[in-house]
Amino acid sequence: MKKSLILVGTQWGDEGKGKIVDYFSQKFDAVCRFQGGHNAGHTIYKEDEKFVLHLIPSGVFYDHASCYIGQGVILSLESLLDEIEQLESRGISLEGKLRISRYCSLLLPIHAKIDQLREDNKNAIGTTRRGIGPAYEDKTARRSIKAFDLEDNDLLEDKLKSLVDYYNFQIKNIHNAEPYDFETVLKDLKDVYQKTAKYFGDVTDSLEDIYENGGNILYEGAQGTMLDVDYGTYPYVTSSNTLATSVGIGSGFPKSIYSDVLGVAKAYTTRVGAGPFPTELFCDDGEKIAKLGHEFGATTGRPRRCGWLDLVALKYSAKLNNLTSLCITKLDVLDEFESIKVCIGYKVDDEEIPFKSRLLHKAEPIYKEFAGWKKSLNDCTNYDSLPTETLSFLSFIEEFVGVDISVVSNGPNRDDLIHR
Ligand code: GDP
Ligand code: IMO
Ligand code: MG
Repeated sequence: MKKSLILVGTQWGDEGKGKIVDYFSQKFDAVCRFQGGHNAGHTIYKEDEKFVLHLIPSGVFYDHASCYIGQGVILSLESLLDEIEQLESRGISLEGKLRISRYCSLLLPIHAKIDQLREDNKNAIGTTRRGIGPAYEDKTARRSIKAFDLEDNDLLEDKLKSLVDYYNFQIKNIHNAEPYDFETVLKDLKDVYQKTAKYFGDVTDSLEDIYENGGNILYEGAQGTMLDVDYGTYPYVTSSNTLATSVGIGSGFPKSIYSDVLGVAKAYTTRVGAGPFPTELFCDDGEKIAKLGHEFGATTGRPRRCGWLDLVALKYSAKLNNLTSLCITKLDVLDEFESIKVCIGYKVDDEEIPFKSRLLHKAEPIYKEFAGWKKSLNDCTNYDSLPTETLSFLSFIEEFVGVDISVVSNGPNRDDLIHR
Protein backbone atom coordinates (compact mmCIF):
# COMPACT_ATOMS: atom_id res chain seq x y z
CA MET A 1 0.00 0.00 0.00
CA LYS A 2 1.46 3.38 -0.99
CA LYS A 3 1.38 5.92 1.83
CA SER A 4 -0.99 8.87 1.56
CA LEU A 5 0.03 12.38 2.59
CA ILE A 6 -1.71 15.31 4.23
CA LEU A 7 -0.14 18.67 3.39
CA VAL A 8 -0.95 21.58 5.70
CA GLY A 9 0.04 25.20 6.15
CA THR A 10 1.80 25.65 9.50
CA GLN A 11 1.53 29.44 9.77
CA TRP A 12 -1.18 31.98 8.83
CA GLY A 13 -1.69 30.68 5.27
CA ASP A 14 0.07 31.40 1.97
CA GLU A 15 3.05 29.23 2.87
CA GLY A 16 3.36 28.01 -0.71
CA LYS A 17 1.08 24.98 -0.33
CA GLY A 18 -0.15 25.18 -3.93
CA LYS A 19 3.33 24.94 -5.40
CA ILE A 20 4.27 22.00 -3.17
CA VAL A 21 0.99 20.12 -3.79
CA ASP A 22 1.49 20.63 -7.53
CA TYR A 23 4.98 19.15 -7.33
CA PHE A 24 3.98 16.18 -5.15
CA SER A 25 0.94 15.43 -7.32
CA GLN A 26 3.32 13.73 -9.75
CA LYS A 27 3.56 10.90 -7.24
CA PHE A 28 -0.10 10.62 -6.20
CA ASP A 29 -3.20 9.05 -7.74
CA ALA A 30 -5.60 11.62 -6.30
CA VAL A 31 -5.55 15.07 -4.72
CA CYS A 32 -8.34 16.07 -2.33
CA ARG A 33 -9.35 19.38 -0.70
CA PHE A 34 -10.96 18.78 2.70
CA GLN A 35 -11.76 22.19 4.27
CA GLY A 36 -12.00 25.91 3.55
CA GLY A 37 -13.47 27.37 0.42
CA HIS A 38 -12.60 29.92 -2.21
CA ASN A 39 -10.91 32.06 0.44
CA ALA A 40 -7.86 29.94 -0.49
CA GLY A 41 -5.51 31.23 -3.18
CA HIS A 42 -2.95 28.61 -4.18
CA THR A 43 -0.40 29.80 -6.73
CA ILE A 44 1.27 27.49 -9.22
CA TYR A 45 3.73 28.28 -11.97
CA LYS A 46 3.51 25.75 -14.75
CA GLU A 47 6.22 26.37 -17.30
CA ASP A 48 6.26 30.07 -16.38
CA GLU A 49 2.47 30.34 -16.72
CA LYS A 50 0.82 31.52 -13.49
CA PHE A 51 -2.34 29.87 -12.13
CA VAL A 52 -4.15 30.74 -8.89
CA LEU A 53 -6.50 28.03 -7.67
CA HIS A 54 -9.23 28.70 -5.12
CA LEU A 55 -11.38 25.57 -4.97
CA ILE A 56 -9.88 23.20 -7.53
CA PRO A 57 -7.20 20.94 -6.01
CA SER A 58 -3.64 21.79 -7.04
CA GLY A 59 -3.16 18.36 -8.65
CA VAL A 60 -5.23 19.45 -11.64
CA PHE A 61 -2.23 19.89 -13.96
CA TYR A 62 -1.42 16.18 -14.16
CA ASP A 63 -3.46 13.80 -16.32
CA HIS A 64 -3.00 10.81 -14.03
CA ALA A 65 -4.23 12.48 -10.80
CA SER A 66 -7.96 12.70 -10.13
CA CYS A 67 -9.20 15.66 -8.09
CA TYR A 68 -11.71 15.62 -5.24
CA ILE A 69 -13.49 18.20 -3.14
CA GLY A 70 -14.63 16.68 0.13
CA GLN A 71 -17.66 17.67 2.13
CA GLY A 72 -15.66 19.73 4.62
CA VAL A 73 -15.23 22.32 1.89
CA ILE A 74 -17.74 25.17 1.79
CA LEU A 75 -18.68 25.42 -1.85
CA SER A 76 -19.50 28.47 -3.93
CA LEU A 77 -20.92 27.16 -7.19
CA GLU A 78 -20.32 30.54 -8.86
CA SER A 79 -16.66 30.49 -7.92
CA LEU A 80 -16.36 26.84 -8.93
CA LEU A 81 -17.87 27.48 -12.34
CA ASP A 82 -15.70 30.52 -12.87
CA GLU A 83 -12.58 28.55 -12.00
CA ILE A 84 -13.53 25.62 -14.23
CA GLU A 85 -14.23 27.97 -17.16
CA GLN A 86 -10.97 29.82 -16.65
CA LEU A 87 -8.99 26.58 -16.54
CA GLU A 88 -10.79 25.26 -19.61
CA SER A 89 -10.06 28.47 -21.51
CA ARG A 90 -6.40 27.77 -20.78
CA GLY A 91 -6.58 24.20 -22.06
CA ILE A 92 -7.10 22.35 -18.78
CA SER A 93 -10.22 20.22 -18.81
CA LEU A 94 -11.94 19.07 -15.64
CA GLU A 95 -14.23 16.64 -17.46
CA GLY A 96 -13.95 13.19 -15.89
CA LYS A 97 -11.20 14.48 -13.61
CA LEU A 98 -13.05 16.33 -10.85
CA ARG A 99 -15.53 14.92 -8.36
CA ILE A 100 -17.19 16.99 -5.64
CA SER A 101 -19.10 15.66 -2.67
CA ARG A 102 -22.84 16.11 -3.08
CA TYR A 103 -22.95 16.60 0.70
CA CYS A 104 -21.00 19.87 0.53
CA SER A 105 -22.72 22.87 2.11
CA LEU A 106 -23.14 25.66 -0.40
CA LEU A 107 -21.85 29.19 -0.06
CA LEU A 108 -24.38 31.51 -1.72
CA PRO A 109 -23.89 35.11 -2.91
CA ILE A 110 -26.01 36.21 0.06
CA HIS A 111 -23.28 34.85 2.39
CA ALA A 112 -20.67 37.02 0.68
CA LYS A 113 -23.00 40.01 1.03
CA ILE A 114 -23.39 39.43 4.77
CA ASP A 115 -19.62 38.96 5.18
CA GLN A 116 -19.02 42.28 3.40
CA LEU A 117 -21.66 44.15 5.40
CA ARG A 118 -20.20 42.85 8.65
CA GLU A 119 -16.64 43.67 7.62
CA ASP A 120 -17.71 47.22 6.80
CA ASN A 121 -18.94 47.54 10.37
CA LYS A 122 -16.74 47.65 13.46
CA ASN A 123 -14.74 44.67 14.78
CA ALA A 124 -13.63 43.58 11.32
CA ILE A 125 -11.52 40.42 11.11
CA GLY A 126 -10.09 41.36 7.74
CA THR A 127 -11.76 38.39 6.05
CA THR A 128 -11.47 37.64 2.35
CA ARG A 129 -15.10 38.93 2.14
CA ARG A 130 -16.05 35.77 0.27
CA GLY A 131 -18.80 34.70 2.71
CA ILE A 132 -16.84 31.90 4.37
CA GLY A 133 -17.88 32.74 7.95
CA PRO A 134 -21.64 33.04 7.33
CA ALA A 135 -21.67 29.88 5.18
CA TYR A 136 -19.93 27.80 7.86
CA GLU A 137 -22.29 29.32 10.46
CA ASP A 138 -25.22 28.00 8.45
CA LYS A 139 -23.67 24.56 8.27
CA THR A 140 -23.29 24.39 12.05
CA ALA A 141 -26.74 25.91 12.57
CA ARG A 142 -28.19 23.15 10.32
CA ARG A 143 -29.73 25.50 7.79
CA SER A 144 -27.23 25.08 4.91
CA ILE A 145 -28.33 24.32 1.41
CA LYS A 146 -26.41 21.14 0.56
CA ALA A 147 -25.48 20.38 -3.04
CA PHE A 148 -27.83 17.39 -3.01
CA ASP A 149 -30.77 19.63 -2.04
CA LEU A 150 -30.67 20.83 -5.65
CA GLU A 151 -31.86 17.35 -6.66
CA ASP A 152 -35.26 18.00 -5.02
CA ASN A 153 -37.10 21.13 -6.16
CA ASP A 154 -39.72 21.34 -3.41
CA LEU A 155 -37.25 20.78 -0.63
CA LEU A 156 -34.87 23.30 -2.17
CA GLU A 157 -37.54 25.99 -2.41
CA ASP A 158 -38.57 25.49 1.23
CA LYS A 159 -35.06 25.57 2.60
CA LEU A 160 -33.92 28.45 0.42
CA LYS A 161 -36.97 30.54 1.28
CA SER A 162 -36.24 30.25 5.01
CA LEU A 163 -32.59 31.09 4.42
CA VAL A 164 -33.28 34.14 2.27
CA ASP A 165 -35.89 35.38 4.80
CA TYR A 166 -33.39 34.88 7.61
CA TYR A 167 -30.72 36.96 5.87
CA ASN A 168 -33.07 39.56 4.44
CA PHE A 169 -34.18 40.36 7.98
CA GLN A 170 -30.55 41.10 8.91
CA ILE A 171 -29.80 42.92 5.68
CA LYS A 172 -32.77 45.23 6.14
CA ASN A 173 -32.87 45.70 9.90
CA ILE A 174 -29.24 45.53 10.94
CA HIS A 175 -27.41 46.76 7.87
CA ASN A 176 -30.01 48.99 6.29
CA ALA A 177 -29.22 47.52 2.88
CA GLU A 178 -31.18 46.21 -0.09
CA PRO A 179 -32.80 42.77 0.50
CA TYR A 180 -32.52 39.90 -1.97
CA ASP A 181 -35.39 38.78 -4.19
CA PHE A 182 -36.11 35.12 -3.46
CA GLU A 183 -37.15 34.17 -7.03
CA THR A 184 -33.91 35.62 -8.42
CA VAL A 185 -31.81 33.81 -5.82
CA LEU A 186 -33.59 30.55 -6.64
CA LYS A 187 -33.22 30.95 -10.39
CA ASP A 188 -29.53 31.89 -10.17
CA LEU A 189 -28.82 28.92 -7.94
CA LYS A 190 -30.60 26.48 -10.24
CA ASP A 191 -28.80 27.90 -13.27
CA VAL A 192 -25.35 27.58 -11.81
CA TYR A 193 -26.09 24.11 -10.42
CA GLN A 194 -27.27 22.94 -13.81
CA LYS A 195 -23.88 23.88 -15.25
CA THR A 196 -21.92 22.12 -12.51
CA ALA A 197 -24.17 19.14 -11.64
CA LYS A 198 -22.04 16.66 -13.57
CA TYR A 199 -19.17 17.07 -11.12
CA PHE A 200 -21.10 15.90 -8.05
CA GLY A 201 -20.89 12.40 -6.63
CA ASP A 202 -19.80 10.41 -3.62
CA VAL A 203 -16.25 11.35 -2.70
CA THR A 204 -16.05 8.88 0.20
CA ASP A 205 -16.68 5.95 -2.18
CA SER A 206 -14.13 7.25 -4.70
CA LEU A 207 -11.37 7.75 -2.13
CA GLU A 208 -12.07 4.35 -0.63
CA ASP A 209 -11.80 2.72 -4.08
CA ILE A 210 -8.48 4.39 -4.79
CA TYR A 211 -7.08 3.49 -1.39
CA GLU A 212 -8.30 -0.13 -1.36
CA ASN A 213 -6.83 -0.63 -4.83
CA GLY A 214 -3.40 0.40 -3.59
CA GLY A 215 -3.52 4.03 -4.72
CA ASN A 216 -2.28 6.96 -2.69
CA ILE A 217 -4.03 10.24 -1.97
CA LEU A 218 -2.62 13.69 -1.34
CA TYR A 219 -4.85 15.78 0.94
CA GLU A 220 -4.42 19.51 0.29
CA GLY A 221 -4.91 21.79 3.28
CA ALA A 222 -6.01 25.38 2.83
CA GLN A 223 -5.35 28.41 5.08
CA GLY A 224 -2.92 27.59 7.92
CA THR A 225 -2.76 26.23 11.45
CA MET A 226 -2.90 29.67 13.12
CA LEU A 227 -6.16 30.34 11.25
CA ASP A 228 -7.83 27.18 12.64
CA VAL A 229 -11.18 28.09 14.19
CA ASP A 230 -10.39 26.15 17.39
CA TYR A 231 -6.61 26.31 17.77
CA GLY A 232 -5.67 29.49 15.90
CA THR A 233 -5.57 33.10 17.06
CA TYR A 234 -9.33 33.23 17.73
CA PRO A 235 -11.35 35.28 16.80
CA TYR A 236 -8.87 36.32 14.10
CA VAL A 237 -9.19 33.01 12.29
CA THR A 238 -11.10 31.47 9.43
CA SER A 239 -14.26 29.43 10.11
CA SER A 240 -12.99 25.92 9.44
CA ASN A 241 -10.60 23.50 11.12
CA THR A 242 -7.43 23.76 9.11
CA LEU A 243 -5.45 21.13 11.02
CA ALA A 244 -4.37 17.83 9.51
CA THR A 245 -6.57 16.05 12.04
CA SER A 246 -9.69 17.43 10.34
CA VAL A 247 -8.95 15.40 7.20
CA GLY A 248 -11.12 12.43 8.23
CA ILE A 249 -14.23 14.57 8.63
CA GLY A 250 -13.51 16.87 5.70
CA SER A 251 -12.66 14.23 3.12
CA GLY A 252 -15.35 11.85 4.35
CA PHE A 253 -12.79 9.05 4.20
CA PRO A 254 -11.78 8.02 7.74
CA LYS A 255 -8.63 6.13 6.68
CA SER A 256 -7.22 9.44 5.47
CA ILE A 257 -6.02 9.98 9.04
CA TYR A 258 -3.39 7.22 8.62
CA SER A 259 -1.30 9.43 6.35
CA ASP A 260 2.03 11.15 6.75
CA VAL A 261 1.75 14.87 7.45
CA LEU A 262 3.94 17.38 5.65
CA GLY A 263 3.91 20.87 7.18
CA VAL A 264 4.72 23.77 4.88
CA ALA A 265 6.34 26.86 6.44
CA LYS A 266 7.85 29.95 4.90
CA ALA A 267 11.40 30.78 5.98
CA TYR A 268 9.78 33.87 7.52
CA THR A 269 6.17 34.67 8.49
CA THR A 270 3.30 36.50 6.80
CA ARG A 271 -0.28 37.20 7.72
CA VAL A 272 -3.20 38.82 5.85
CA GLY A 273 -6.01 40.40 7.85
CA ALA A 274 -6.17 41.44 11.49
CA GLY A 275 -4.95 39.61 14.61
CA PRO A 276 -1.87 38.98 16.72
CA PHE A 277 1.43 38.48 14.92
CA PRO A 278 4.31 38.60 17.43
CA THR A 279 7.20 38.77 14.93
CA GLU A 280 5.64 41.36 12.61
CA LEU A 281 8.24 43.86 11.36
CA PHE A 282 7.57 47.56 10.89
CA CYS A 283 11.06 48.39 9.63
CA ASP A 284 13.15 48.09 6.46
CA ASP A 285 13.62 44.35 6.93
CA GLY A 286 9.84 43.85 6.80
CA GLU A 287 9.57 45.93 3.66
CA LYS A 288 12.44 44.04 2.10
CA ILE A 289 10.78 40.67 2.78
CA ALA A 290 7.49 41.97 1.34
CA LYS A 291 9.23 43.26 -1.77
CA LEU A 292 11.48 40.30 -2.46
CA GLY A 293 8.76 37.79 -1.56
CA HIS A 294 6.06 39.62 -3.60
CA GLU A 295 3.87 39.37 -0.53
CA PHE A 296 0.41 40.25 -1.82
CA GLY A 297 -2.66 38.05 -1.22
CA ALA A 298 -3.37 35.59 -4.05
CA THR A 299 -7.14 35.89 -3.45
CA THR A 300 -7.66 39.53 -2.48
CA GLY A 301 -4.42 41.24 -3.59
CA ARG A 302 -4.03 42.77 -0.12
CA PRO A 303 -0.45 43.42 1.07
CA ARG A 304 0.62 40.71 3.50
CA ARG A 305 2.07 41.67 6.87
CA CYS A 306 5.63 40.32 7.11
CA GLY A 307 7.92 39.26 9.93
CA TRP A 308 10.66 36.86 10.97
CA LEU A 309 10.11 33.14 11.30
CA ASP A 310 8.25 32.36 14.52
CA LEU A 311 9.54 29.04 15.81
CA VAL A 312 7.32 29.08 18.90
CA ALA A 313 4.27 29.15 16.64
CA LEU A 314 5.82 26.57 14.31
CA LYS A 315 6.51 24.18 17.18
CA TYR A 316 2.92 24.55 18.38
CA SER A 317 1.78 23.86 14.84
CA ALA A 318 4.02 20.79 14.51
CA LYS A 319 2.45 19.29 17.63
CA LEU A 320 -1.13 20.06 16.68
CA ASN A 321 -0.73 18.57 13.21
CA ASN A 322 1.47 15.67 14.31
CA LEU A 323 3.87 16.62 11.51
CA THR A 324 6.06 13.86 10.13
CA SER A 325 8.20 16.24 8.06
CA LEU A 326 8.66 19.88 7.17
CA CYS A 327 8.99 21.80 3.92
CA ILE A 328 10.58 25.26 4.20
CA THR A 329 9.58 27.55 1.34
CA LYS A 330 10.78 30.91 0.03
CA LEU A 331 14.31 30.41 1.32
CA ASP A 332 15.53 32.43 -1.68
CA VAL A 333 13.73 35.52 -0.33
CA LEU A 334 16.34 35.66 2.46
CA ASP A 335 19.33 35.35 0.06
CA GLU A 336 20.35 38.99 0.37
CA PHE A 337 19.98 39.46 4.12
CA GLU A 338 23.08 40.27 6.19
CA SER A 339 21.50 38.60 9.20
CA ILE A 340 18.33 36.60 9.76
CA LYS A 341 16.32 36.26 12.96
CA VAL A 342 14.06 33.54 14.31
CA CYS A 343 11.77 33.89 17.30
CA ILE A 344 12.46 31.38 20.09
CA GLY A 345 10.19 32.76 22.83
CA TYR A 346 7.81 35.56 23.80
CA LYS A 347 7.83 37.95 26.71
CA VAL A 348 5.24 40.22 28.29
CA ASP A 349 6.58 42.49 31.05
CA ASP A 350 9.71 40.34 31.33
CA GLU A 351 7.70 37.16 31.86
CA GLU A 352 7.88 34.43 29.25
CA ILE A 353 4.49 33.44 27.79
CA PRO A 354 3.46 30.50 25.59
CA PHE A 355 1.80 30.78 22.15
CA LYS A 356 -1.57 29.98 23.67
CA SER A 357 -1.45 32.93 26.07
CA ARG A 358 -4.35 35.37 25.94
CA LEU A 359 -1.64 38.05 25.99
CA LEU A 360 -0.22 36.99 22.62
CA HIS A 361 -1.17 40.36 21.11
CA LYS A 362 1.27 42.00 23.56
CA ALA A 363 4.07 39.46 23.12
CA GLU A 364 7.57 40.73 22.49
CA PRO A 365 9.63 38.20 20.57
CA ILE A 366 12.91 36.83 21.87
CA TYR A 367 15.15 36.36 18.84
CA LYS A 368 18.11 34.24 17.89
CA GLU A 369 20.17 35.75 15.10
CA PHE A 370 21.87 33.93 12.23
CA ALA A 371 24.42 35.17 9.72
CA GLY A 372 22.89 35.42 6.24
CA TRP A 373 24.34 33.34 3.37
CA LYS A 374 24.36 36.35 1.04
CA LYS A 375 24.28 34.48 -2.22
CA SER A 376 21.70 33.09 -4.59
CA LEU A 377 20.65 29.50 -3.92
CA ASN A 378 19.35 29.17 -7.48
CA ASP A 379 21.99 26.77 -8.70
CA CYS A 380 21.94 24.63 -5.62
CA THR A 381 20.28 21.25 -6.19
CA ASN A 382 21.71 19.25 -3.33
CA TYR A 383 20.66 19.83 0.29
CA ASP A 384 24.05 19.02 1.77
CA SER A 385 25.80 21.44 -0.53
CA LEU A 386 23.74 24.42 0.66
CA PRO A 387 25.93 27.18 2.19
CA THR A 388 27.02 26.51 5.79
CA GLU A 389 24.99 29.51 6.99
CA THR A 390 21.84 28.15 5.33
CA LEU A 391 22.42 24.72 6.84
CA SER A 392 22.87 26.24 10.34
CA PHE A 393 19.59 28.11 9.94
CA LEU A 394 17.75 24.99 8.74
CA SER A 395 19.28 22.69 11.39
CA PHE A 396 18.21 25.08 14.12
CA ILE A 397 14.62 25.02 12.83
CA GLU A 398 14.63 21.21 12.89
CA GLU A 399 16.11 21.04 16.35
CA PHE A 400 13.77 23.63 17.86
CA VAL A 401 10.62 22.26 16.26
CA GLY A 402 11.59 18.60 16.60
CA VAL A 403 10.65 17.69 13.01
CA ASP A 404 12.99 16.90 10.10
CA ILE A 405 13.00 19.03 6.97
CA SER A 406 12.48 16.83 3.90
CA VAL A 407 12.46 19.52 1.24
CA VAL A 408 13.17 23.22 0.80
CA SER A 409 11.81 25.52 -1.87
CA ASN A 410 14.05 28.16 -3.43
CA GLY A 411 11.85 29.77 -6.08
CA PRO A 412 8.24 29.89 -7.30
CA ASN A 413 8.66 27.40 -10.15
CA ARG A 414 7.78 23.75 -10.00
CA ASP A 415 11.34 22.53 -9.97
CA ASP A 416 12.77 25.11 -7.59
CA LEU A 417 13.03 22.49 -4.89
CA ILE A 418 15.91 20.91 -3.03
CA HIS A 419 15.14 17.48 -1.63
CA ARG A 420 16.99 16.04 1.34
P1 GDP B 1 -0.56 29.03 -0.68
O1 GDP B 1 -1.84 29.72 -0.39
O2 GDP B 1 0.02 28.38 0.54
O3 GDP B 1 -0.63 28.08 -1.83
O4 GDP B 1 0.49 30.18 -1.09
P2 GDP B 1 0.19 31.42 -2.07
O5 GDP B 1 0.13 30.93 -3.45
O6 GDP B 1 -0.93 32.23 -1.56
O7 GDP B 1 1.49 32.30 -1.80
C1 GDP B 1 2.77 31.80 -1.99
C2 GDP B 1 3.49 32.70 -3.00
O8 GDP B 1 4.88 32.41 -2.97
C3 GDP B 1 3.07 32.45 -4.44
O9 GDP B 1 3.18 33.65 -5.14
C4 GDP B 1 4.08 31.44 -4.94
O10 GDP B 1 4.28 31.50 -6.35
C5 GDP B 1 5.32 31.89 -4.23
N1 GDP B 1 6.29 30.85 -3.89
C6 GDP B 1 6.08 29.58 -3.47
N2 GDP B 1 7.25 28.99 -3.13
C7 GDP B 1 8.22 29.92 -3.35
C8 GDP B 1 9.64 29.92 -3.15
O11 GDP B 1 10.24 28.98 -2.70
N3 GDP B 1 10.29 31.08 -3.48
C9 GDP B 1 9.66 32.18 -3.97
N4 GDP B 1 10.38 33.25 -4.25
N5 GDP B 1 8.33 32.20 -4.17
C10 GDP B 1 7.62 31.09 -3.84
P1 IMO C 1 -4.55 30.01 1.60
O1 IMO C 1 -5.19 28.65 1.44
C1 IMO C 1 -4.09 33.57 4.07
C2 IMO C 1 -7.57 34.81 6.43
C3 IMO C 1 -8.19 36.14 6.06
C4 IMO C 1 -8.68 36.59 7.42
C5 IMO C 1 -9.15 35.29 8.07
C6 IMO C 1 -10.65 35.04 7.95
O2 IMO C 1 -4.30 30.72 0.35
O3 IMO C 1 -3.38 29.92 2.52
P2 IMO C 1 -12.16 34.25 5.88
O4 IMO C 1 -12.41 34.89 4.57
O5 IMO C 1 -11.60 32.88 5.82
O6 IMO C 1 -13.34 34.33 6.80
O7 IMO C 1 -11.04 35.21 6.58
O8 IMO C 1 -8.44 34.25 7.40
N1 IMO C 1 -7.44 33.84 5.32
C7 IMO C 1 -6.29 33.56 4.71
N2 IMO C 1 -5.06 34.10 4.85
N3 IMO C 1 -4.29 32.56 3.20
C8 IMO C 1 -5.51 31.98 3.07
O9 IMO C 1 -5.71 30.87 2.34
C9 IMO C 1 -6.59 32.52 3.80
N4 IMO C 1 -7.91 32.22 3.88
C10 IMO C 1 -8.40 33.03 4.82
O10 IMO C 1 -7.23 37.01 5.52
O11 IMO C 1 -7.60 37.07 8.19
MG1 MG D 1 -2.70 31.60 -0.59
